[in-house]
Parts: sequence; structure tokens; C-alpha cells
Amino acid sequence: MKNVLDVVDLTLEELNDLISTASDIIDNPEKYSEKCKGKKLATLFYEPSTRTRLSFTAAMMELGGNVLGFSEASSSSAMKGESVADTAKIVSCYADIIAMRSPIEGAPLVAALNASIPVINAGDGGHCHPTQTLGDLLTIHRELGRMNEYVIGFCGDLKYGRTVHSFINAISKYKNIKIYLISPEELKIPNYVKHEVLNKNNIEYIETTNLDEAIPNLDVLYMTRIQQERFSDIDEYNRLKNSYILTIDKLTNAKNDLVIMHPLPRVNEISVKVDDDPRACYFKQALYGKYMRMALILKLLDETKNNPKKESRIDYSNVKINEYKCTNPKCISQVEQELDHIFKCVDEKNKIYRCIYCEKKA
Ligand code: CP
Repeated sequence: MKNVLDVVDLTLEELNDLISTASDIIDNPEKYSEKCKGKKLATLFYEPSTRTRLSFTAAMMELGGNVLGFSEASSSSAMKGESVADTAKIVSCYADIIAMRSPIEGAPLVAALNASIPVINAGDGGHCHPTQTLGDLLTIHRELGRMNEYVIGFCGDLKYGRTVHSFINAISKYKNIKIYLISPEELKIPNYVKHEVLNKNNIEYIETTNLDEAIPNLDVLYMTRIQQERFSDIDEYNRLKNSYILTIDKLTNAKNDLVIMHPLPRVNEISVKVDDDPRACYFKQALYGKYMRMALILKLLDETKNNPKKESRIDYSNVKINEYKCTNPKCISQVEQELDHIFKCVDEKNKIYRCIYCEKKA
């Protein structure tokens, strides 16, 4: 593990190893308080964040290390037109590890290809948010007490919600998980998640618009925000924004040990009155995110200590270079004009190619 760009790159063994380390940090924090002494984490945040940036900062501080970086693009030389590749090379001179959040999909991959230090994707547009997913897995482990054999409902924006897509990918590696996909018709889970993740891994799932009917069956309820920033049509956002609001009344028929999760921030989709219910785990979930980021920093620094990171390379097997053009306006290959448009074959039988940066289909 040289970088963490997408949770699908992690094996089940690596996921379980990170969960185990994060749990040990929770139980024995003093053991870890100087593990990163003398090390520096660069937080390169080109998009707003409260939890991810501050929990990365707190994580490094609790490991005895230091943090440098910026929290908005306007305070970096990106404003002068500096590329992500050049930024990664420069930051490699000053820090030992990078956590990057960007609205540009694929930016952390380009950073990883150019940095000589590990890069962690702290969220790239609507594409991936692997550290959220890792914290979510730790929440399941600590709050539900098992990683296999449970029923989980995802509710809200299942179309644009990157946390949901990443989380479904991760839990598909575990056994006997049944999923309820609860959303308005307009915000249903994309077909590629159904075909390439759920069907491929034989995961049982039910699509519904009705939260009330689904809730009594659930061991875990994962609420999500309808994300205004992902909509191009504001009227559609206004029509859908109040689709689901979890109230105390709605929990009447829920299990007593239901685990209620939410990646946060919330707007109004969970009533604040639910916060005092013992089933509400979303603030603990944010705390677990910090412990998981500690585990991840330790793991990546440990691996580079034993085997210094050389520049990563694209795997050029089964790719087409500049034969297709990525049409996603948020993809880094659209934003940084000198990058090649590279598409990788993800399905030999059906000849499906996806952009290596943002995964848009050719
Ligand atoms: N959940 C999450 O990523 O929150 P922030 O955007 O505040 O980092």
C-alpha cells in the first residue's frame, strides 16, 4: 500500500488490518503518541471540509507528528495555474505524506503519480472518499460488533453520494450483507454500482422509495444529505431536498440496537431530536474517522520507511491512450490540458473502458 486513492484498491486483509490497528489505537492511545515524531503531514484541501481536514490534523498531532498545508485553493499557487503534478512534486520536498481533497476528480491520482511520498485521497469531487469509508467500516465494527451478516439501508442521495458508492464497494468484500437502497426515483443508485459491484458480488439488494417500510428490517441505517453542490438544476434540488427526514416518530418500529450513521454534514435529514437517541452513532462515526486516519498514516509511513516510495506508474496494460476523450467536465483530464486521456478496459467481454482518473465510461 503506497497510496490510498480508492477503497476498491484495498484487499479484505488490508481493510481488516486497518480496522484492527484503529481499534488498538482507541484502546491504547498512549502506545501511539510518539509514533510519528519528526514526521509531517501536508493537508492540501482545495474544497471545504470540517471533519476530514481537522481529523487528519488531529490524527497526526495525536501520533506526535506535525501538520502543514492549506484549506482552500485560493491560498495556494493553484490560483496562479500551478498543476497538481507540480504541486505534488513540491510538497514532496517539505512533507512525508499528503492528504488531498479536490473538487477535481482524479486529482489525487495525478498527485500520487508525481509525488515521492504517499498520497491519501481525502475526497475528489463526486468520485471517491476512501477515508470516510474506512471510518464507516470502523463504526460498523465498534458499534454493530460484526463485519458480516447484517442488513443495512442507505437512504437519500444514492446517485451523487460518493460515500455511499465507496461504502457499498467496501462492504461487498464481507459476507451475508443485505442492502436496502432507499431514494427518490431521481436519485437512485447508478446502474454501474448495481452491475459492477452488487450483482458481481452476489449481494442481495432491494430498491425502494419508502423509508418507513424498510426501517424495521435494518441493523444499520446510513442516512445521507441531498447534496446541493452536485446538482446542475436548482429546481430539481429544491424538489428533492426534503425527501427523507429521520425523526423520533420514524424510529418507533426500528430495532432497539439499530446503528444510525451519516457521513455528515447534515442539513435537515436527521432531526436534532434523534441525536439523544442511543441509536444515533453519527458523531461517534466522525470520531472513528480520526482513529482510522491515524491507522492509515501509520501504515503508509511504515511501508515507505521499509521501502521508500518511488514515483508511481500507470499500469499501461489494456489501456487506450487518447483514443477516447473523457467528457466529464470535473475530470482532471479536462481541467489539465496536457494530460493524456487514458481509458482502461474494466470488462473484457463487453469491451467496457473507463477513464483512469474519474471512471467515466468511454
Ligand atoms: N464527511 C465529510 O467528508 O465531511 P467534511 O466535508 O466536513 O470533511
